[in-house]
Amino acid sequence: MTKEKMASYLWGLPEQFAAILPQGVQLPPSYKREYRHILVSGLGGSAIGGDVLRTYAQTQAAIPVVVNRDYDLPAFIGDQSLVLVVSYSGNTEETLGAYRQAREKGATLIVVTSGGKLADWARDDNVAVVIIPGGLSPRAATGYLFTPLALILQDLGIMKGAEEDIKEVIEVLQAMRQAIGPDTPWEGNTARQIARDLKGRLPLIWGSTGHSEIAALRWKTQINENAKCPVFYNLFPELNHNEIVGFEVPEEILSYIVVVMLRDPEDHIQVKKRMDISKQIIQDKVAKIVEVDSQGQGFLARFYSLAYLGDYVSFYLAEEYGINPTPVASIDFLKSELNR
Ligand code: PA5
Repeated sequence: MTKEKMASYLWGLPEQFAAILPQGVQLPPSYKREYRHILVSGLGGSAIGGDVLRTYAQTQAAIPVVVNRDYDLPAFIGDQSLVLVVSYSGNTEETLGAYRQAREKGATLIVVTSGGKLADWARDDNVAVVIIPGGLSPRAATGYLFTPLALILQDLGIMKGAEEDIKEVIEVLQAMRQAIGPDTPWEGNTARQIARDLKGRLPLIWGSTGHSEIAALRWKTQINENAKCPVFYNLFPELNHNEIVGFEVPEEILSYIVVVMLRDPEDHIQVKKRMDISKQIIQDKVAKIVEVDSQGQGFLARFYSLAYLGDYVSFYLAEEYGINPTPVASIDFLKSELNR
């Protein structure tokens, strides 16, 4: 996938949600029963949809959603568990291991993938499988990967209104791309401006637990994978109990840091105050503080508005560094070495 393909993914993200919505997800009647919890198992670009689902479900679901990024599943998984196994390629070894364990433990499984071994195994085992379009980088397929998860919870009656919430995501992202897409020059393009702020510096992305939490993680992972540089993230209020102390010495290191604060109207009132006070503590020490606000009404639209801005920032930062955003040589190397 070339740089242009990554650009076309960014532009086309809203249409990924729109492509999955009409077909929906209809599970067989045997799936329609009570579960004690839901576990989403995946890695990297395939796991983050599980994180979004976890924080989204916290807004209304009566049972918890947890995310697993490992070969092994927690001991509590058993015949009362619903396990959603997500792998874009369908060949990620940790995820295949988790699939096998979930079967052994008697959990109910649903697979989301574009193909690979996972699709084959699910068909052989008579496990419900949602096949999504292939051919993209996993992190570029985030709309395809997340939408079925939300629709599964809606089909099971665990969440209400997912379809409406996803329609708002489409509207918000379609409006945003006019402002931050590649046709909008630097002067009016917030994403390009932030990318320039980050160039040659060390970004720290600060979000808030439960609200901009996964957007902060997405900014981090997209900057890592697209712009190929180090970046760290942390969350309020926890960071006020440790990280905030780390801005005293040494000055030279601090002068490389740009803090990006992701703000959401639903942030706890005390978290809003904490963000303001934290700004005061660090403002004369770091190179720059950038603040961005979520857009839209619903949780999903607000999340994706922050994530989409971060996606474009990471793309423009790759441009600033003269780097092709698409290849992830180190991930490919690790996977090929482990397969030998
Ligand atoms: O962005 C990436 O390529 C990775 O983070 C992958 O998503 C990760 O390695 C897991 O692969 P897959 O999504 O195919 O299961």
